[in-house]
Parts: sequence; structure tokens; C-alpha cells
Amino acid sequence: MFTTALSSPSPQATAVDLFEAIETLKKELNAVVLAHYYQDPDIQDVADYIGDSLGLSQRAAATEADVIVFAGVHFMAETAKILNPDKLVLLPDLAAGCSLADTCPPEAFAAFKAAHPDHLVVSYINCSAAIKAMSDIICTSSNAVKIVEQIPADQPIIFAPDRNLGRYVMAQTGRDLVLWQGSCMVHEIFSEKKLVQLQMEYPHAEIVAHPECEEPVLRHAHYIGSTTALLKYVQASDRHQFIVVTEPGIIHQMQKQLPDKLFIPAPPTGNCACNECPHMRLNTLEKLYQAMKNRQPEIVLPEAIRQAALAPIQRMLAMS
Ligand code: 13P
Ligand code: SF4
Repeated sequence: MFTTALSSPSPQATAVDLFEAIETLKKELNAVVLAHYYQDPDIQDVADYIGDSLGLSQRAAATEADVIVFAGVHFMAETAKILNPDKLVLLPDLAAGCSLADTCPPEAFAAFKAAHPDHLVVSYINCSAAIKAMSDIICTSSNAVKIVEQIPADQPIIFAPDRNLGRYVMAQTGRDLVLWQGSCMVHEIFSEKKLVQLQMEYPHAEIVAHPECEEPVLRHAHYIGSTTALLKYVQASDRHQFIVVTEPGIIHQMQKQLPDKLFIPAPPTGNCACNECPHMRLNTLEKLYQAMKNRQPEIVLPEAIRQAALAPIQRMLAMS
């Protein structure tokens, strides 16, 4: 399966050198590179598949590669490992965590769950394997509404960890969910005031937003959806200008696929010009190359947690 004579670009290797070296390593390792839309454009360009959390999980579940190189954050690579215990799953930077997943520590969540013993637990995929192991069904931003709609109306539900997605699901389904009060540092920092000002500057632009944003921001959106759903929406729309209220990495794909349309990143509060996810952006093309070359850092999980986390992920895949 593995060979040892791997090409080694110099420390000053250009992106082009790295692209070539990564392509060679893909063949040598029988590896697939899966990337989220919030990754650096270079990483998106070298990926075999780019997608939202659901698409990436589906692709990880179906792959026949021996090695999965996951260009995303830890919970995503962990999900790939849960689905593929016998494959090598690499994450270019093991420190690429998630502020939302961090808002839900397992001990505190166990106590929360114990306080609601008759509740079914639906957890957003942006959580640790330990939280998944305590959940009944996993969901993503693209199937959360669909999954909650399939649960009998008289069944009480805990929704964790993102309160903003939870509120959005409540509004869409009319269900009363018990929400864990977590949120994403990237999506809660968009400024409603600056968004309204931007809309006045671009009156023909449509606002497309991710449901992890807070309600006062979502109120202005013409369309709300997962990253893949936002991409499909701007492709299908006859409009030519869009204000994009999510991590700006997605704009790389929007611009690449629709070069004649204008995509304007929504502004955050404060003086920062953009809202890049500091966790996602820990991965770089160089680190991705090094991970493939050294076959590490690798995702490793205790088997008991992996097995407990697998069932709710499989339920999600069946219900999607
Ligand atoms: P999706 O790509 O599934 O919409 O998720 C967004 C996100 O925040 C991933 O961390
Ligand atoms: Fe986590 Fe938010 Fe970054 Fe997504 S954008 S990985 S939810 S911190």
C-alpha cells in the first residue's frame, strides 16, 4: 500500500510544487483529500472533494481510499474516523478545533442530559465524539430541519450544541426544543448594523446566510442554508450580487464557479475586515503535504467512544 520514496519539495516550495507533490502522494498512499469550503483556496484547489459537513460525512462513509486526508477541523476528521476505523485519517493540524464544539464539555452535557431524562438528544455534528456518543441522532446544518421533522411530535428533544441553529430549527418546524447554549465565534460576530449598511450600498444584492448566525442577522437573509446549500442557491439565482454571511472561504468556490457574479463578504463587528475561522485556517497546503508525507498527525479514538458515536451518525445518514 505505502511506498517510501516520496518526493520532497524544498522548504521554499511553491504552491505549484506542493500541488504536484500532493498529487504524487495521493497515488502512492491511495489517499483521498476531503476539504471543507472554509479551507484556504489552495487547499480547496488540491482537494478531491469539497463539501459541507453532510457531504463530507457521506463521502467519508463511501470512500474506498486507504487514507483520508481531512482538510477541515477536528470534529470532521473524527467523524471520518468513526465511520472508517480501519483507515488512516490525517488532519494537517491536530490543533484545528472548533469554538462551537468547545462550548459543550462532556461532563456538563451529561448532567444536562440527566436533567431531561425523557428527551431525545439531537446533536449538531459540530461537537466532539464524546458528545456524539451521548446523542441519539446527529444532524448537520443541511438536514437538521428534515431530521427533527421525522421525530414524533410528542417526543421532547434536546438540541445541542448550537443555540442559533437550534432556534432556526424551532422556527422552521414549530417544535419546542431544549437548547444547549453553545455558539460559533465566527458566525455570532457578524454585525447586523454593518449588514444593513452594506445592503443599502448594494440594494440589488441578495443576502445569503448560514444558520449558525444569530437571529437579528438571519432576519435580513433572503436565503438561509448550509455552505453547499448557499453555493447551490447563488448558482441557481438570476441575481448578480450577493452578500455572503458565513466564513469567506466559501466565496472562493462561488467566484470560481460564477466569475461574472459579485460576492461580498459580510462584515463582522469591530475593526477586522473578515471573519475567517481561526481553527479552519490552521491548516495550510504545506501542513497538508507534510501530513501526507509523514502519515501524521493521525486521528485516534478510544474504541468504546467510537462505537457509541457511530450509531447516531449512521441514523443521520439513513434519515438524510
Ligand atoms: P456546513 O458546511 O455543514 O454548513 O457547516 C458549517 C460549519 O460551521 C462547519 O464548521
Ligand atoms: Fe467551528 Fe465556527 Fe469554525 Fe465552523 S466556523 S469550525 S462552527 S468555529
